[in-house]
Amino acid sequence: MVNQNTPTLRRDTSSRNRLSISSIIKYGIVVLVAICCYAYIWSVNKLFNSKNEMLGIVSPPEENKMAHGATSSNADMHGDGSNSRSLPQKVHSRNTQNLANSKAKTAPIVLPNVLLIGAQKAGTSSIAQWLHNNGVCHPKVFPGEPAYLIKEVQFFNQPNRYNAGIDFYSKRFEHCSEETHPWILDATPNYFIEASKVYNTYTDEKAGDALAKLKLIAILRDPVSRELSWYNHKLHEYKHGARDEWLLDVVHTNGTIKTFDEYSIELSRLITANPKDAFSLYVDHLKSWVELFGRQQLLILSYNEFVTDPSKTVGRLEEFLGVKLNGEFEKYNFWRDVSKEMPTIAKEVLGELFREKNEELYEFLANNPGPPMEEKPFPRFDE
Ligand SMILES: *[C@@H]1O[C@H](CO)[C@@H](O)[C@H](O)[C@H]1NC(C)=O
Repeated sequence: MVNQNTPTLRRDTSSRNRLSISSIIKYGIVVLVAICCYAYIWSVNKLFNSKNEMLGIVSPPEENKMAHGATSSNADMHGDGSNSRSLPQKVHSRNTQNLANSKAKTAPIVLPNVLLIGAQKAGTSSIAQWLHNNGVCHPKVFPGEPAYLIKEVQFFNQPNRYNAGIDFYSKRFEHCSEETHPWILDATPNYFIEASKVYNTYTDEKAGDALAKLKLIAILRDPVSRELSWYNHKLHEYKHGARDEWLLDVVHTNGTIKTFDEYSIELSRLITANPKDAFSLYVDHLKSWVELFGRQQLLILSYNEFVTDPSKTVGRLEEFLGVKLNGEFEKYNFWRDVSKEMPTIAKEVLGELFREKNEELYEFLANNPGPPMEEKPFPRFDE
């Protein structure tokens, strides 16, 4: 019996041994894969967090503490309330609550539905402030970020911010709820030359129907006086001790201040060498915006009208956004302590530089009429 059984037993044992070894190997592989996955997710998470820290994004509790309530007292953008029903669009009709319940970390994407895309020194600060006073939601500034970001997020124009992606951008508008804020504004005049980046973000699969809801506003000023105003702005900052890179072209390398004539001659050289980055060549950039976003979603305003007859500009903005807007534009003339006179050489050099593109602009706008409330024909800068 023993002899008979032994082989059987031995067989059984060895087959059981084989079984358990192979299952140990299988389970081992499964456990290893699980460990690897966990380690991978952990390290990606860690990397993401450290990148966020570098970019000034911090954890949600601190963000909430830093919330800016600058316009909370003006939350009624309809003024008399009569227009609240005739709002043309509802903002971001996603089911925020369900998403928030199921996935705390992937909040729904909130993108601004109004972009004031420029131009710099053409009244964008006044318009943005006035819209914010009327309850239009403004971006949130995060700890470690400069205060001016409350008007302009500087997302599409700053590579380090743009590369942080749509979630980074969305975070700045998460506090803009559908109920209290039908309109959400980012007024970054530097976006004027970034049409394709804006388009890429608004057509991102996460963006939902944001592209269809997007309204664009541009305000144009005679490029020659715009350049003088920009020079004066930079000079003002420089004289008050600022040394940021973007304003250093108002001084010579030996530290003496350039006259506007000297500045203009260099500017002319720069623009000729690199027209793609020249904000004052309006028509080139507007063509990109129109090509990507269409003409009816873009309202082009005249700085001249804004200064001489602001009530007309108000009317156009009200019609474009479909809301009643109250109050007046505040003027932001903080650079008034510097010369506003146009020196003769600069006038000639810059006038010559922009003449052709200005003509092209009038022609383009005549051939591509904008939304009904826009000024037509668009006024010439020299009139
Ligand atoms: C500084 O440099 C500019 C341009 O090169 C020159 O015109 C000016 O005389 C210089 N000023 C001084 C104080 O050296």
